Amino acid sequence: MAYAAFRSIGAYAPRKILTNEDLSKMVDTTDEWITKRTGIKERHIAEKNETTSDMGVEAAKKAIERSGIDKSEIDMVICATISPDYFCMPSTATIIANKLSLGHVTAFDISAACTGFVYILSIAKAFIESGMKKNVLIIGAEKLSAITDYTDRGTCILFGDGAGAAIISATDNRDEAIIDIHTGSDGTYADLLMTPNGGSGSIHDSIDQESKACFMQMKGNETFKVAVRTLTKDVVEILDTNSIESSQITHFIPHQANLRIIKAVGEALKLNDNQVVITVEKYGNTSGASIPMAINEIYENGSLKAGELMLLDAFGGGLTWGSALVPFSPTLK
Ligand code: ACO
Repeated sequence: MAYAAFRSIGAYAPRKILTNEDLSKMVDTTDEWITKRTGIKERHIAEKNETTSDMGVEAAKKAIERSGIDKSEIDMVICATISPDYFCMPSTATIIANKLSLGHVTAFDISAACTGFVYILSIAKAFIESGMKKNVLIIGAEKLSAITDYTDRGTCILFGDGAGAAIISATDNRDEAIIDIHTGSDGTYADLLMTPNGGSGSIHDSIDQESKACFMQMKGNETFKVAVRTLTKDVVEILDTNSIESSQITHFIPHQANLRIIKAVGEALKLNDNQVVITVEKYGNTSGASIPMAINEIYENGSLKAGELMLLDAFGGGLTWGSALVPFSPTLK
């Protein structure tokens, strides 16, 4: 049987930075409020002509180069995004595959909001373990600034743009393999986080109403409570199922939505500060890109080493959630 190994990581953040100070000139808010309630200090914002696929391509180039495989060996591309280049079609994954000249690979997007990266990791693992694919490029990429209402202080302070990518490859060596991935959803909470416009469920009959409804809307406080509960439960379940103690985790990489959520989950799981990866202060919430961007951060600062165990934990619109036990298994030269 083939196993799936997490070979490499790459990420990209646009150059332009939007600070809390900048936001305080746009809506009724302050740096102090945003820092205290969210931990976010700044977020990166794409240029007007910079698309989700452009950012995905930059992240993917790094992941491919670091994986040691030739791009001709990639046989599938999956992109997790809620801010695709085009709603409906074509998929952002096909655009990325084309921009990277990957040939006629299988390519598609999935929509699971902030849980997107854990979902695509589970899909890559399943395709590899079934023997159908050998090297899968997975990408979480978001231009959330394109679907953010910059007159709504409840959401515009939270979100940023960016992308992260990874190569997942087949291996015979079980020690290198992704250990387990759990994913789930509960549509009864669908209205906590949504972009009401654009689909067949759209009920607006004026263009003004409709264009406003293109943006993300969130019941922040209710979402917060469900997030802490779900993220903690998720981790307890995956650790129990696999008889792994939280002390065996080198890097706990939660979705970067809010520092208070991350701290509450870390404390509930009795993780120490060195185990918990935090990047929310510099990128804000980048939805499907947040976990791979955080993995890239510890890779680039030298704290992620071969063989170390990562625990990914995500939560997002849908509602969706997911967790994954992933050893970092770069190809050893
Ligand atoms: N600046 C100043 N005041 C503000 C701001 C702001 N930017 N935003 C809200 N307020 C005010 C509110 O109006 C309210 O005022 P009131 O008491 O006079 O009514 C007060 O601050 C408290 O508002 P709450 O919404 O209760 O604030 P809370 O502490 O919950 O923080 C936040 C809001 C940061 C949005 C938080 O609820 C949160 O992080 N929620 C979870 C987000 C999340 O995890 N989302 C899931 C992933 S995202 C995805 O899937 C795309």
